Parts: sequence; C-alpha cells; structure tokens
Amino acid sequence: MKHHPVNSGNKGQRRPESKTQQDHHNAKAEKTRQQKALQKDQQKKPRNKTERAGPRRQLNPSTLMAPLPAVLVSCRGMHPEGKTKGLKPENNLITIAWAGIVCSDPPMLSIAIRPSRYSYQLIKSSGAFVVNLVDKPLLESTDFCGVQSGRDVDKFEACQLTAVPSAGLEDVPAVAESPLSLSCRLNQICKLGSHDLFIGEIVAVEAKETLFDNHDRLCLEKARLIGFAHGQYYEMGQIAGFFGFSVASDNVLKRRMTDIRQKNKRRPD
Ligand SMILES: Cc1cc2nc3c(=O)[nH]c(=O)nc-3n(C[C@H](O)[C@H](O)[C@H](O)COP(=O)(O)O)c2cc1C
Repeated sequence: MKHHPVNSGNKGQRRPESKTQQDHHNAKAEKTRQQKALQKDQQKKPRNKTERAGPRRQLNPSTLMAPLPAVLVSCRGMHPEGKTKGLKPENNLITIAWAGIVCSDPPMLSIAIRPSRYSYQLIKSSGAFVVNLVDKPLLESTDFCGVQSGRDVDKFEACQLTAVPSAGLEDVPAVAESPLSLSCRLNQICKLGSHDLFIGEIVAVEAKETLFDNHDRLCLEKARLIGFAHGQYYEMGQIAGFFGFSVASDNVLKRRMTDIRQKNKRRPD
C-alpha cells in the first residue's frame, strides 16, 4: 500500500499545503527574493559622487602630464666640442615634448632641455630657435631626431629634411616640411634641475599655404598634428568642441557644431 503522510500519524512529516497556502508561501518567497535583489542592487549603486567616479590609485610623483606636443626644434649655433670645434655654426634638430605657451603678450613659449643635449649649447650660443609642429609625414623623422644626437649625425641630412630661412630670424633655419613653425628669440634660461627651461619670445609664425581655406582662415585641424602621451605618439583626431562651447548661445552652438560635424566627416582615415 502507498504510504500516505496524513494517515501515518508521523509528527515529523508536514501535511501537504492547500492551494491557498501554497500561493501564500510562493508570494512570500517571491517577496523575500525581490527584497534581497533590491538590497544587492542598492549595495552596488554608488551612494555619492566620489563613489560614482570610481576608485583612484596614487602614483609616485612623476612627469605624467598628457597630452603633450611633440615638436621638432631647429637650431643653428656653435658647440665647443662639435665637429667644427666651435669655429663654425652648425644646423641641428632636437625633438621636444616638454613645450608649451607661457605668455600671450608678448607671445612666449618654453621648451625644457637637458644641458647634456647637443642642441642646448647651440641654442644658448645663437640665442634663437624655431619650434616646428609635427604631422604624420614628419613623425618618423621626429622620433629619429629624439634618439640621435647632432654630435654624431647631421639630422637634416639623415632625415632628408629641408632647412629653409625662418621668418623673423636671420640665422636659424626652419623645417620646410613642417605644417607650422614658430620662430623664437631666446628670452631667458631658467635653471631647474635635470632640465633647464628655455623661454623664447615668438617673433614670427609661418604656416603651410595648404592649411588656409578660401576665406584665408587658418584651419590647423587640417594638419592632423602629432601629440605625445606616456611614451606614445598620437595623431590628432576628431574635433570634440570649441573654446567656450559650454556657455555658447543656442544659435552659436548649432552653427559651430554643424561646422565641426562637417569637418569631422571630411577627415580622411
Ligand atoms: C618624443 C620625444 C620627446 C623628447 N622631449 C625632450 C624634451 O622635452 N627635452 C629634452 O631635453 N629632450 C627630449 N627628448 C630627447 C632629445 O630629443 C634627444 O636626447 C636628442 O637626441 C637630443 O639631440 P641633440 O643631442 O642633437 O640635441 C625627447 C625625445 C623624444 C623621442
């Protein structure tokens, strides 16, 4: 005979639940499950802005500033230990990433140079240098000029780059292949430590004709300049906004953003 728990009189065994009891039981279980899920969800949700931003990790103090420009600085000057023993001026190129604009009136920029660089002495002796911006076609030469010294190599020749008279300076050449060159007269050298800061007054700027539009406006985005971040080079990509866009009027925003979208579409890959 089939054993039936109801008739067995066994106290340890539960009676089968009625349909209503079962429904009640299921509803209770579902509610508990939902409450647990909610609790878990709430635990996961960030409680404040700091939590929402995510955890951060502290690193040792270092020069991890990014992005930086990667520029080719052309110079011409004398070096007492150079090939000409300081008797004749020599042209040279040095790659610099630690460069920036430091003043608008008068227009000034800075480049940080280690005293051991060959270019250090050349620039110091002539009191002038040219900062040549770099695009993709110039990138390999730029990297090369950053790992080879003018002590050993004629970098203009090795890279087949063209030294042309710079705007505003008599003796220091610019790089003809560069999209834009800023001619600088040395204003001062600030001793810092491993590097010294050369501050130059920008006396002239020259840009490639191809960078101008039909209205003679400079369109620097056409140059797709190269930047440097944490040991890697980047080609400038999509335009993401314009100066003051966060507070621009609706009209200006619409017009400028439409213009930007068109420019972004036009950029070849
Ligand atoms: C991407 C890159 C960025 C560099 N930035 C700097 C810099 O800001 N200052 C510096 O003194 N050297 C910098 N260097 C190293 C010099 O360019 C390198 O030592 C070069 O060979 C010096 O040339 P020179 O001895 O002919 O002057 C950089 C090198 C590379 C590849």
